[in-house]
Amino acid sequence: MSEKKIGIGVIGCGTISDVYLTNITQHYRNLDLIAVADMFPEKAKMTQAKYNVPKACTVEELLADEKIQIVLNLTIPAAHYDVNMQILNAGKHLYCEKPLTLKFEDAVKVVETAKEKGLKAVSAPDTFLGAGAQTCRVLMEEGKIGEPIGFTANMTCPGHELWHPAPGFYYKKGGGPMFDMGPYYITTLVALLGPIKKISCFAIKGRPVRNVLGMQQESEVPTHYTAIVEFVCGAVGNVNMSFDVWNSELPCMEIYGSEGSISVPDPNMFGGQVKFCDGKKLEGIVGAVTEPHPAKIIAMMTNQKSCITEQEPLFASDPDPRGNMRGLGVSDMAQALLDGRKSRLSSEISLHVVEALNAFETAAETNTVYEMKTTCQKPEMMGQDWDLWEVR
Ligand SMILES: NC(=O)c1ccc[n+]([C@@H]2O[C@H](COP(=O)([O-])OP(=O)(O)OC[C@H]3O[C@@H](n4cnc5c(N)ncnc54)[C@H](O)[C@@H]3O)[C@@H](O)[C@H]2O)c1
Repeated sequence: MSEKKIGIGVIGCGTISDVYLTNITQHYRNLDLIAVADMFPEKAKMTQAKYNVPKACTVEELLADEKIQIVLNLTIPAAHYDVNMQILNAGKHLYCEKPLTLKFEDAVKVVETAKEKGLKAVSAPDTFLGAGAQTCRVLMEEGKIGEPIGFTANMTCPGHELWHPAPGFYYKKGGGPMFDMGPYYITTLVALLGPIKKISCFAIKGRPVRNVLGMQQESEVPTHYTAIVEFVCGAVGNVNMSFDVWNSELPCMEIYGSEGSISVPDPNMFGGQVKFCDGKKLEGIVGAVTEPHPAKIIAMMTNQKSCITEQEPLFASDPDPRGNMRGLGVSDMAQALLDGRKSRLSSEISLHVVEALNAFETAAETNTVYEMKTTCQKPEMMGQDWDLWEVR
């Protein structure tokens, strides 16, 4: 394993930056954090002190730093397009928090600019690279559920104003459950089923006025979506995304195949419980709690073992099986640069997901079925080349 590192700069020192900075500074051994920046210099300074970062500076200074090869854009979604273009125009590879951009045409520009400049440009989520979704992928690649027929994907909650310290943006253009949580679900579905073909959708503002930090805020965006999606592989299923549901027992995600079914753990997490029902045995529902770290799956693939068997569930229960490995996609991108290979997250996947997020809205607004214009390959599965997580 090479000990080479790639220089990283982070723009945006807000809520999500904590987990990234913890993981980059303590766990991902191929990432070297060089500088942090924020539109509020005091936030960058506080972050610098907390994580012992060599430099806190302006966005321009960060982009001019020659030691930085990948820039992580952790700003709010409304700022993603402008900041992404700044990063690419400075000649840096881009890893953006989700979504890549709000508008599809902006995502096209980002991806085209990256291509012209020979740079990588992708967006989170990277949760599908964790052990939970990778286990499901292995089961599917092993043919355990046969041909995919259908699925259900459900993200229901009462709204992020209940916990986020600055939740106003969730109810502005580009917010709402589809743009905020949709990327996890759509990216995981694309990783498991391949590209989307068509989308139809209804969307409403279930609670049009929200209590945001004690103030009444009108939602500019729908907060309750219900959609039907057809994938190129032929599978059809429903997607529910809502900030208007107080309680629900709907599964996060299930995939139904001709020979069996899989219950996919929460796509917002890296591990969790995978359940597999073998259609030949019907009663044989086998569950396995996966750790977030994909190393055991890689070991299992190497040993040519089946993913889950009734006799021997491969994954021991972990004290925190859902664990937060955010930055896995950045580490993979860095390793791809070091090894001269493609990163598992591709521009095509990020672009396809942004088109889909917009398509849910378009289909709902126009009462039509939206036919996708872009396509993508399923991402490469995690492999032996990846073992970059350590406790420093
Ligand atoms: N909060 C979460 O739990 C969470 C989880 C996963 C992903 N995300 C994603 O992470 C991103 C950031 O979310 P957050 O919750 O950390 O938001 P936040 O508002 O807490 O932090 C955003 C930070 O970016 C800075 N910023 C905004 N525009 C900027 C610009 N143009 N230049 C420089 N700095 C700028 C802000 O000052 C702020 O410090 C979003 O894309 C969100 O979808 C958030």
